[in-house]
Amino acid sequence: MKNIVILVSGRGSNMQAILEAKLPLKVAAVISNKADAQGLEIARQHGVATQVLNHRDYPDRESFDRAMAAIIDGHRADLVVLAGFMRILSPWFVAHYRNRLINIHPSLLPSFTGLDTHARALAEGVKIHGCTVHFVTEELDRGPIVVQAAVPVFPDDSEAVLAARVLEQEHRIYPAALRWFAEDRLTIGENGAVGLKNQNKTERSLPVPDMEL
Ligand code: GRF
Repeated sequence: MKNIVILVSGRGSNMQAILEAKLPLKVAAVISNKADAQGLEIARQHGVATQVLNHRDYPDRESFDRAMAAIIDGHRADLVVLAGFMRILSPWFVAHYRNRLINIHPSLLPSFTGLDTHARALAEGVKIHGCTVHFVTEELDRGPIVVQAAVPVFPDDSEAVLAARVLEQEHRIYPAALRWFAEDRLTIGENGAVGLKNQNKTERSLPVPDMEL
């Protein structure tokens, strides 16, 4: 069975969805850069080992990342799962975990990389928004896409309402992507595109859930 380590900074709802999905993999540890991250408490309730590493205790980004990698590698992690980890990772860390570092981003990439995705989607007047699970590369929010899910945007949506609609989909697609990883079904082609072996009908309909228009 594969081992994963999850990195969180806050609420931890994606981490919770992953833990509750009872995937055929071992969550070896949850690491946070914030001692008060809600996600840590949820991890403990699930009996998962937790560790806090305060980035302020390190002189620069890379030394923090190297300390984190020492812990992750101590757990022999096959995959590092970013779930609301609010720190940019150093090129060293990204290279160390090439094809073994995965993230969820609250937009349909490549649209709306970076922060405040829901407010920006509303400001642009887009009619479809969503979320993306992708492998992490040096370029922020631009790595190979594993899976996406779309949601409609309605004229009277507030940022909070839209965020909640997207989050519901995040909680579907992140566990799904990790299940594929656990089952060894993800492939990365020469062009860098991610493929899924033996995709079934349900999996094909993941990107466009019932949009209730
Ligand atoms: C999610 O919206 C995720 O897409 C983004 O950060 C947020 C984390 O939420 N990367 P949570 O901590 O998983 O509840």
